[in-house]
Amino acid sequence: MARILLGVSGGIAAYKALEFTRLAIKAGHSVRVVQTPDSVEFVGKASFEGITGAPVLISQFERDPAGGAFPDQQRPDHDPIGHLELAANCDVYVIAPATANTVAKLATGFADNMLTALALSCRKPILVAPAMNNDMYVNPATRANVETLRSRGITVVEPGVGELASKGEFGVGRLPEPADLLAEAERLIAGDEAAFAPRSLDGLRILITAGGTREPIDEVRFVGNRSSGKMGFAIADEAAARGAEVTVVAANVALARNPAVSYIDVSTAAELETSVNEHFSGADALVMAAAVADFRPVDPAAGKIKKAGREGMTIEMQATNDILAGVAGSKRDDQVIVGFAAESGTDLLAEATRKLESKGLDLIVANDISDPSIGFESGDNEVTIIGSDLVAERPPRGSKRAVAGAILDRVAALVADLQAPTERRGRPA
Ligand code: CTP
Repeated sequence: MARILLGVSGGIAAYKALEFTRLAIKAGHSVRVVQTPDSVEFVGKASFEGITGAPVLISQFERDPAGGAFPDQQRPDHDPIGHLELAANCDVYVIAPATANTVAKLATGFADNMLTALALSCRKPILVAPAMNNDMYVNPATRANVETLRSRGITVVEPGVGELASKGEFGVGRLPEPADLLAEAERLIAGDEAAFAPRSLDGLRILITAGGTREPIDEVRFVGNRSSGKMGFAIADEAAARGAEVTVVAANVALARNPAVSYIDVSTAAELETSVNEHFSGADALVMAAAVADFRPVDPAAGKIKKAGREGMTIEMQATNDILAGVAGSKRDDQVIVGFAAESGTDLLAEATRKLESKGLDLIVANDISDPSIGFESGDNEVTIIGSDLVAERPPRGSKRAVAGAILDRVAALVADLQAPTERRGRPA
């Protein structure tokens, strides 16, 4: 749980700030909102007050009924100076959307409203999410202002490219999706050592595979699968937020990267295997979330196979190595190995248990890929986690990040158990 201060300035994308607030509260954070006077033309105070259960401030001269406290805090018995107290109490200050005007004021150090005055007095991480019309964003004045903010250590998330909120407009300037903004804010909080108490994976090295491998048929085509990498990346983000040193071997994943995580990009099962074998000995835990091809074309063609003269075609395939079974066979006693079992059908748990035992794993995470609401591209998941003692646990259905948390709780407990006597001594660097 963190205290998120949200500053909303006056752009059409202000409506997305409502969703950001809702998601932040759903994730367990305590949120206070300040608005610029113009932003009230787009979204009213009452909406934010309703969601946060706390007053919204606009002017630095208005009295804060909560005395600068966040919803989880006691109101102080005096009236502190609002723009100092909220800045002191928050763990991160998110300014979203930040209009061209607000970005310019932040860059010059203006303090003419509550939002800008707070930015000037805030010593916590600040995240600015500009959103505006394409021409305003690419204007050299705005570009220079953004660079100024960055040079002062403020995190500026680049706006997205696509349809803008105002009808018919297209270009760069879209506010990122609220869930992505929240993930970015959580990363900043996690990087700020003073902010978060429980860092259950501090000092651990976790190797995670994500995505789906591609086995070439020729230089253009491949045999692949629908894994998006979302689950593996969510585990990586959560593990990094809990203090782990995280390496992700990413097989064809087109998702945003977390600066707190190291990534190694691979394409085929053989490349993924080489990379896992190279990094496994230095890891305390391996989480194998990637969907690895079981078969590869025996003889990929050079160039592009031509259609002319063929009635049909047969591709001869050969089995790939089972990477998990390989590393599990050579693992040290202090290492934890987690596999995934994506199954479609009624024998989900029996099949997952069979894989757990035959591959020699410590945990297996089973999910039902026939349910489209928790499928490959979905942001949600529902899993059953089975341990080598065959005890099965079913955390509540939730975002992939929340499910990642449940998996990592088990990993942390197992590692602590295995490593307790040796205190993680003697690992290769
Ligand atoms: N896996 C692996 N190497 C492979 C295939 C799978 O390491 N060549 C890993 C996956 O990353 C996953 C686990 O094994 O963590 C189970 O993968 P899954 O595809 O469900 O099982 P398979 O053993 O391939 O069996 P089947 O495809 O027949 O269900």
